[in-house]
Amino acid sequence: MRRYIRALALCTVFAVFSGLYVYNKLFYSDVSAGGAGARRVFVPGVRRGAVGKTGPQTTHWYNRYIMRQRAQVESGGSQRRPEPPMHLAVVACGPRLEETLTMIKSAVLLSIRHLCLHIFAEDQLHASFMEALESWPGFIRSRFNYTVYSISFPSENAAEWKKLFKPCASQRLFLPLILKKVDSVVYVDSDILFLQPVDRLWALLSQFNSSQLAAVAPEHEEPRIAWYNRFARHPFYGRTGINSGVMLMNMTRIRNTYFKNDMTTVGLRWEELLMPLLQKYKLNITWGDQDLLNIIFHHNPECLLEFPCKWNYRPDHCIYGSNCASAEESGIYILHGNRGVYHDHKQPAFRAVYEAIRKYSFGADAANSLLAPLEEELLKTTHTYCGKSHTLFTKRLAQSLSNINRNATRGR
Ligand SMILES: *[C@@H]1O[C@H](CO)[C@@H](O)[C@H](O)[C@H]1NC(C)=O
Ligand SMILES: *[C@@H]1O[C@H](CO)[C@@H](O)[C@H](O)[C@H]1NC(C)=O
Ligand SMILES: *[C@@H]1O[C@H](CO)[C@@H](O)[C@H](O)[C@H]1NC(C)=O
Ligand SMILES: *[C@@H]1O[C@H](CO)[C@@H](O)[C@H](O)[C@H]1NC(C)=O
Repeated sequence: MRRYIRALALCTVFAVFSGLYVYNKLFYSDVSAGGAGARRVFVPGVRRGAVGKTGPQTTHWYNRYIMRQRAQVESGGSQRRPEPPMHLAVVACGPRLEETLTMIKSAVLLSIRHLCLHIFAEDQLHASFMEALESWPGFIRSRFNYTVYSISFPSENAAEWKKLFKPCASQRLFLPLILKKVDSVVYVDSDILFLQPVDRLWALLSQFNSSQLAAVAPEHEEPRIAWYNRFARHPFYGRTGINSGVMLMNMTRIRNTYFKNDMTTVGLRWEELLMPLLQKYKLNITWGDQDLLNIIFHHNPECLLEFPCKWNYRPDHCIYGSNCASAEESGIYILHGNRGVYHDHKQPAFRAVYEAIRKYSFGADAANSLLAPLEEELLKTTHTYCGKSHTLFTKRLAQSLSNINRNATRGR
């Protein structure tokens, strides 16, 4: 009897181990060829309980992503780790729907790595955003996923925040507190157009030294006509302040840093900093959240990486003659049509770029149906200072577009 029980126990143990082995084989598989660096990867189509809080949409996207990575490996391509996606955030309020969609269009058209879009918008715009993005063709749609959020404040003290801040204008200050699980993000204003892949901007994150947690361009190149150094009634960063229209943020670092300030002698966390800062300076600030960022980085300059004006090229850089040396050298990387110049006739060169991207249909030949009409339109703007510099507007874009046909066929 005792022998029988021992045999039974052995069998059970054996059965359990074989079960585990088969489970393992079925549910996991090595994508790389094995060896020391082999990575376990979740196999497409098989749900694993412990995968985390992934909704159907996420699983779907993730599966496709892994399949693409696998295909790459199986076709003898690089054996790199699947790269994490890039995150892009924008705040869209009022009549900014089409402008925001055109910004997103420029981003997904040119970018290489997968993009996660975080769109913060007034509720009445949500359906239109979703309808527009879902109508884009599959080969473009597969390059990004998105979430549309209501304009909101961190749940703690929401009522108090609301009393003090204009919701739309200050939303971006709260991104590190709202997108708690996101490590890093590119924040852009809705009037931004990417003229080269977001990837290039994203790559600057890895160049941050140990104290840097955000990257921005100066507000101006030319102190004689700049704003902050002549008019600001509050501290600002550097010689001419910063422009926050394109802002790269390592939010993990923002959440973990104690910021020096002129209110207490101890460092304050981001969420502790905003409210007292606004209370102290509310009568003196003109440009809202950008002014608050200037005050913060005035006291914490070591936290900022300054990138050159070609990454945030505005009418200020050409309206009285060209003053952005980095764009002269390598073309405009990111265009920022502030002061509404995409929608009026004051700076026709800016409007021409906006219209060319807005009118382009995905999949059409980019040289013929985007670049050529744009160049033609820009030649009509040479009576303006910005139009005289029209080659800066297309130099980088032309290079970026010459790559997209390759990307498009790869993604199809
Ligand atoms: C988008 O993809 C990322 C990448 O893994 C994922 O974490 C996120 O949850 C996805 N978002 C949506 C809305 O599917
Ligand atoms: C952001 O900073 C954290 C903490 O230093 C680091 O672990 C992370 O890799 C950084 N993110 C990027 C994209 O460089
Ligand atoms: C606000 O501006 C006034 C006038 O320039 C100045 O006297 C005051 O110190 C400023 N307030 C703060 C908090 O800097
Ligand atoms: C990082 O770079 C900034 C700007 O150049 C500088 O002020 C800061 O001291 C550097 N931080 C470290 C830890 O080297």
